[in-house]
Amino acid sequence: MKTRITELFGIEHPIMQGGMHFVGFAELAAAVSNAGGIGTITGLTQRTPADLANEIAKCRDLTDKPFAVNLTFLPTVSSPDYPGYVKAIIEGGVKVVETAGRNPSEVMPYLKDAGIKVVHKCTSVRHALKAQAIGCDAVSVDGFECGGHPGEDDIPNMILLPRAAEELEIPFLASGGMADARSLVASLALGAEGMNMGTRFIATKEAPVHENVKQAIVAASELDTRLVMRPLRNTERVLTNDAVERLLEKERTLGASIKFEDIIEEVAGVYPKIMIDGEMEAGAWSCGMVAGLIHDIPTCKDLIDGIMAEADSLIKSRLAGLVA
Ligand SMILES: Cc1cc2nc3c(=O)[nH]c(=O)nc-3n(C[C@H](O)[C@H](O)[C@H](O)COP(=O)(O)O)c2cc1C
Repeated sequence: MKTRITELFGIEHPIMQGGMHFVGFAELAAAVSNAGGIGTITGLTQRTPADLANEIAKCRDLTDKPFAVNLTFLPTVSSPDYPGYVKAIIEGGVKVVETAGRNPSEVMPYLKDAGIKVVHKCTSVRHALKAQAIGCDAVSVDGFECGGHPGEDDIPNMILLPRAAEELEIPFLASGGMADARSLVASLALGAEGMNMGTRFIATKEAPVHENVKQAIVAASELDTRLVMRPLRNTERVLTNDAVERLLEKERTLGASIKFEDIIEEVAGVYPKIMIDGEMEAGAWSCGMVAGLIHDIPTCKDLIDGIMAEADSLIKSRLAGLVA
């Protein structure tokens, strides 16, 4: 399939794997890229810029296809060495960067000078327009359904994507709630040029996370996510567990006076415990409502090949049949 996104990134299929903390390692990024999509290494999961440089080199050993690096600008406990990470990305010859959180204006000149394509992930039309104005090549429009940080506007993709199509000139990926060929075909119909998936790619053979995480996603339904940290205006969609319910109880009890320190036990430093050690009750971890559509743990190649084959038949048979 040829879209403005496949052309921009030089890839075969319009499918991206979004950056994911303690999931987006070289193994997964390379598997997605080798399957014809574009995989993403999560920059900040690497403790230092030197670690990121090693991860990029590892990914290059595993694939000769384009892959991306995610740079997330979110409130973190300690401020990361962003210039160092940008240097590692440029020197590593990375061709695509996915930015997220704050708008990436401070790093844009360096990335653009290096000829890197920048896709900014954002949760509103106004942020997408800002990304376009500062020179981003594309955006990923992340609807309210998404795993991770959906922002504070709560606009689902059925509205957000056509609104983005009305306003944007640069191409965009549909993100949040995407799982299969139906998601891809619907996204294209709503004006997107491809789709970005997070949660779906965690439940794949190559995702380098504990088996418990994959099984939790397969077992979950669309009713099992919760929004945490809304009172801190840092809303995150996570899979429910005892720690998450405890966190929500603190939010109810403390109300507007809640501070990050009050919930630190449930959110800080929990990713390695969950993703690597499989301690599923260790704290809050991002997961999308789309878990309700995930019933298997395929290889990335089987997943992407299946999506593309079924999208072809959905468009040529089902949809074309309806208008014949
Ligand atoms: C476990 C997990 C960790 C994530 N970590 C990040 C991150 O560090 N930076 C980022 O920009 N997005 C992060 N995301 C968001 C994804 O890149 C993607 O935008 C989102 O998962 C799309 O929604 P979906 O899960 O419904 O597919 C994360 C998502 C998940 C599920």
